[in-house]
Amino acid sequence: MSELNQIALKIISDGKGILAADESNGTMTKRLEAVNVASTPENRLLFREILFSSTSIRECIGGVILYDETINQTTSLKNSIPDLISSSGAVTGIKVDTGAKELANSPEEKITEGLDGLRLRLKKYYQLGARFTKWRGVYYINRTSPSKLAIHCNAHALARYSALVQECGMVPIVEPEVLMDGDHSAETCFEVTSEVIKKCFEELILHKVDLSGIILKPNMILAGNSSKNKISNEEVSSQTLSCLKESVPSEVPGIAFLSGGQSEIEATENLNLINKNNNTNFIMTYSYGRALQQSAIKFWSKNIKDVQGTQNIFNHRAKMCTMAAQGKWSKELENK
Ligand code: G3H
Repeated sequence: MSELNQIALKIISDGKGILAADESNGTMTKRLEAVNVASTPENRLLFREILFSSTSIRECIGGVILYDETINQTTSLKNSIPDLISSSGAVTGIKVDTGAKELANSPEEKITEGLDGLRLRLKKYYQLGARFTKWRGVYYINRTSPSKLAIHCNAHALARYSALVQECGMVPIVEPEVLMDGDHSAETCFEVTSEVIKKCFEELILHKVDLSGIILKPNMILAGNSSKNKISNEEVSSQTLSCLKESVPSEVPGIAFLSGGQSEIEATENLNLINKNNNTNFIMTYSYGRALQQSAIKFWSKNIKDVQGTQNIFNHRAKMCTMAAQGKWSKELENK
């Protein structure tokens, strides 16, 4: 077993999943302003420190993805954030892309940037304690998107990123996200997601990336959020499984889904069914941002000093996701 494979397994084994707390300052500002909290560095740290010092970081979370601001911050007890995370046995991760920008010659699509100077930034993050990283490519579905160009250049960037990350001794999370926005059918989501993932692996293989030392972070197969033809949770699970079974090479140790705008319960229920019906050799877990934090941030915003109350909400959510990552979640458990 390679060292990278061991890190990947440490993050996603035994029902553990990933807390994606890597919202950029822009995104975090939107999340905080939506609950009437000022988006200052202090408030962003306050909320995140509450999550990172919760008991579920030890019990349910194998890895936490940070944003550059957070990895450089110090806790109220003057510890580094990576130390706080590793003291609970979880692995520190870091978002290393610099965001999705307009794609030249296809301005309605995006290309994720951040390759320039990446090797040096990775070395710095490794020294700070990071052992895995994240890079997200985004793809829109509409009449003309995603174009072959967007599929090709985002796959190329994900592969160049992954090769550099492994060179630095860290595990890359490869995240090609086909967005839920739009009125497309689940069938279209299936076709596009398959094409996008296959192209990513073509490029990863070309760049000699060790597939046993990555974690794939895809979307589930869903109809667009404004589609009138939603599919059942059972169908989400069976279509997601067949898409991944035919598109992902078997060397990949695990798949950690993004929530992508699903509600907390929807994301939990779908993950649970994926695990109940899992007919692949992949570990199937979560790498959720909103579906782990939504209720917690709402509660916290009412009284930002209520650490225990906020942690109780977050711990419940993380526990439900971890049950789902083992196919053991139920509505009764959710409402207990
Ligand atoms: O890149 C996306 C995040 O890491 C996951 O966020 O679960 O809210 O889609 P989400």
